[in-house]
Amino acid sequence: MDNFEFHNHTKILFGKGQVSSLKNELPAYGNRVLLVYGSGSIKKSGLYDKVIRELKEIDATVIELAGVEPNPRLTTVNKGINLIRENQLDFILAVGGGSVIDSAKAIAAGVPYDGDVWDIITSKAKAPSNSVPIGTVLTIAGTGSEMNGNSVITDWDTNTKAFFNSNHVLPRFSILDPELTFSVPRDQTVYGSVDIMAHVFEQYFHASSNAPLQERIGEAILSTVIETAPKLVNELNNYEYREVMLLNGTLALNGLTVMGVNPDWATHLIEHAVSAVHDIPHGGGIAIIAPHWMEHVASVRPEKVAQLGVRVFGLDKAGKTDAELAAETIQSLREFWKSIGAPTKLSDYGIDDKEIELMTERAMLAEQIGNYVPLTKEDVRKILRNSL
Ligand code: NZQ
Ligand code: ZN
Repeated sequence: MDNFEFHNHTKILFGKGQVSSLKNELPAYGNRVLLVYGSGSIKKSGLYDKVIRELKEIDATVIELAGVEPNPRLTTVNKGINLIRENQLDFILAVGGGSVIDSAKAIAAGVPYDGDVWDIITSKAKAPSNSVPIGTVLTIAGTGSEMNGNSVITDWDTNTKAFFNSNHVLPRFSILDPELTFSVPRDQTVYGSVDIMAHVFEQYFHASSNAPLQERIGEAILSTVIETAPKLVNELNNYEYREVMLLNGTLALNGLTVMGVNPDWATHLIEHAVSAVHDIPHGGGIAIIAPHWMEHVASVRPEKVAQLGVRVFGLDKAGKTDAELAAETIQSLREFWKSIGAPTKLSDYGIDDKEIELMTERAMLAEQIGNYVPLTKEDVRKILRNSL
């Protein structure tokens, strides 16, 4: 293992009715609140009213930032920064999915920063230690943003989707009530399930040695998603399936399986480039790109792909080479994602060859990306072309 530091201070309040913990958690941070949410799902589900009732109980002053986009935009982050500065707010409450929570984190870091918040988002500057504290009420399983320090934001003017990571923007608390995810539509439920699996892959395919426990934890998360997602997509209001998926999402990207290893993240960098150019759902893009990425990886280092197939997809390894097993693993992954309704081609989203060059450019933040198998620009272009 590599040397590592682990720090995660997010308090998780998990289970039915936990929204009523808001009035206990919030006062520690002041009562002038920026309430951040998306395009209206929380109003339809009644969650907005519940949150407002909680905030009224503690006499909070509430200013709202509504309309955060899926694949949240820099312009929205800047609006939030201005609202906090103008109204001297103490706290950000993000009610929604990864997009809402990621925006809250970028706003939190941008408020005390003198320069352009894009410097922080592109990791040119560090998030200040006096970033505004945030709390979250999560409404969709997938990104893990509720218990990590990541924020992914798009500057639509330059078609650049960038991310930063800082413990200074880790949520102080996150409320995870599986019932709040009942209203997540089937397609978004599929995207979330895919995203959770992809987060495990990014850390499972690491460039370090001797991490058997981290890998076994990752395999347990993958097996649990494979067991639960097919049942969940056919029964969206099932509390037990929703709670399992919610916990899966949190544990897949809260630092647990990346301890002591150097993760890959190439698939994510490629997908971020795709959705920065052509606004598609993150999990949908991942479902298309990951198998092609894995094919490339298998052509260079098939052994881990083979291990994944044997341990997670139950492949029989008798008499087979790693390359043969790796091919079967990728086939199993494709069949699984297809069976739950995940997209398989970028052209499903109307993307064509003309956009590939810009996507390739945007994916190459460095000369090479990925760590398990470093990718050159040519490799990325090929993976994207194969994904069309
Ligand atoms: O905008 P609203 O009305 O809330 O609707 C959202 C949105 O349309 C809807 N939704 C969420 N909860 C719902 C619901 N609809 C009905 N009922 C509910 N309970 O679902 C749609 C997608 O929401 P979004 O927040 O965009 O989804 P997700 O959580 O998948 O977040 C995606 C964003 O997170 C980034 C992605 O790149 C993308 O920008 N990521 C963030 C990561 C992190 N912070 O660690 C890691 C990930 O790999 C990812 O890159
Ligand atoms: Zn993801």
